Amino acid sequence: MNVTIIGTGYVGLTTGVALAYIGHQVTCVDKNPRIVETLTQGKATIHEPGLEELLAHAKSHLRFQTDIPEISGEGVVFIAVGTPTKPNGDADLQYVDAAAKEVAEQIQSGAKLVVVNKSTVPIGSAKHVEGILHRSLAARNVSADVWVASNPEFLAEGRAMHDTLYPDRVVIGADDPAPIGMLRALYAPLLEQTFPDPAETPRPERYTLPSLITTTPTSAELTKYAANSFLATKISFINEFSRLAEHVGADITEVSRAIGLDTRIGGKFLQAGIGWGGSCFGKDTRAILAAAQSYNYEMPIVESAISVNQRQRLHVIDKLQKHLKVLRGTTIGLLGLAFKGNTDDLRDAPALTLIEHLSERGAIIRVHDPIAADNARRLYPDLPVEYCADPLALATGADALVIVTDWPEYTRLPLTEIKTAMRGDLILDARNMLEPATVTEAGLTYVGVGR
Ligand code: UDX
Repeated sequence: MNVTIIGTGYVGLTTGVALAYIGHQVTCVDKNPRIVETLTQGKATIHEPGLEELLAHAKSHLRFQTDIPEISGEGVVFIAVGTPTKPNGDADLQYVDAAAKEVAEQIQSGAKLVVVNKSTVPIGSAKHVEGILHRSLAARNVSADVWVASNPEFLAEGRAMHDTLYPDRVVIGADDPAPIGMLRALYAPLLEQTFPDPAETPRPERYTLPSLITTTPTSAELTKYAANSFLATKISFINEFSRLAEHVGADITEVSRAIGLDTRIGGKFLQAGIGWGGSCFGKDTRAILAAAQSYNYEMPIVESAISVNQRQRLHVIDKLQKHLKVLRGTTIGLLGLAFKGNTDDLRDAPALTLIEHLSERGAIIRVHDPIAADNARRLYPDLPVEYCADPLALATGADALVIVTDWPEYTRLPLTEIKTAMRGDLILDARNMLEPATVTEAGLTYVGVGR
């Protein structure tokens, strides 16, 4: 099938590469010529395991360009552009609108086309985009079958290729059977898992075929917000309990494991720590509150999930203050800048909140991140930090180290050397990644979250 993807961010690029890999003819469009050039050379523009290898595998089915091609015949267009947050929390649709208008201008008479909203968009966006397309086609006197469907994306960064090739479910929201049929055909190789699994992103053992949920556009749009709000709430829930665990002297990691084994609860997204960050949870929880507000409807659970999360980030500062007493003039080493491990993404990263508050309190801040440091230097040139090449350099002369990002390599820190290199002895494990006994055996003081 002919597929055009507008926007090569996390969602657009991984969708494009995955669809090309499973055999479709894909054109990815991005206005930024540098991105187009880099991708055309087969280099990934985001740090995502397995992406570059799949780019190479799918090369013959994939092209990148700055302009939307002429659209004739049967095909699918994905709109996967950014939807930034407006000051009131609502998603800003200006890029979606612009993409829809540009797509409409390229549609030729006789085309049979599904335009898919793949970005996380507000409720009612399918109808909104349909209006833009149909008005434009009427103005140009073009007669074509054009439908709009909502097909939310559930990939998590750091495992985007995996989540796209092996989804739990595919959700398609459309008002007409024709676009549902076309998208079902598009996704058939994923739904039936008929493609050979790539070596770098192997099919998980015991993976069961994904369910296809067909529904209305509105239900599909709400599904995305509900999924992200639920996951954010689940993390805030365990973080709320982690604080109580500290008061009563329980270990939240054991509590998480014990409740997670109840299949009704499930063990995922129950890791207490520094609270959630990233491009989705904060943005989508605020957007759904803004949407509810337009109906004069309150959502106290989502509101609390947000406020518990804000509080959880600052709890790390309280802990540092409790153990070090005075932060002014002390040297704190932050292990990790990215909002989570396996990504170079700094959007809504807890590390940035820590840096802001520690610097306000006069601390000397050093940072290490295996991948995201370059992004931090580029995006935040004035960040009041000193960059260190490795954890040992970060530790040298430091009063405390804080594990901020759950990079897998931080489970293998050279603790004995770190102890010798540090001025102080505090390891604040804000991700509960380390075994407390291993840290104390190295002569260091261990402080986790909720344990
Ligand atoms: C999320 C959703 O998982 C994904 O389905 C959606 O499409 C986009 O938003 P992402 O933001 O990439 O994906 O990361 P995710 O792995 O969900 O983690 C979000 C945040 O929660 C991170 O800061 C992570 O460190 C934190 N987290 C996650 C916890 O603090 N505890 C957990 O148990 C799980």
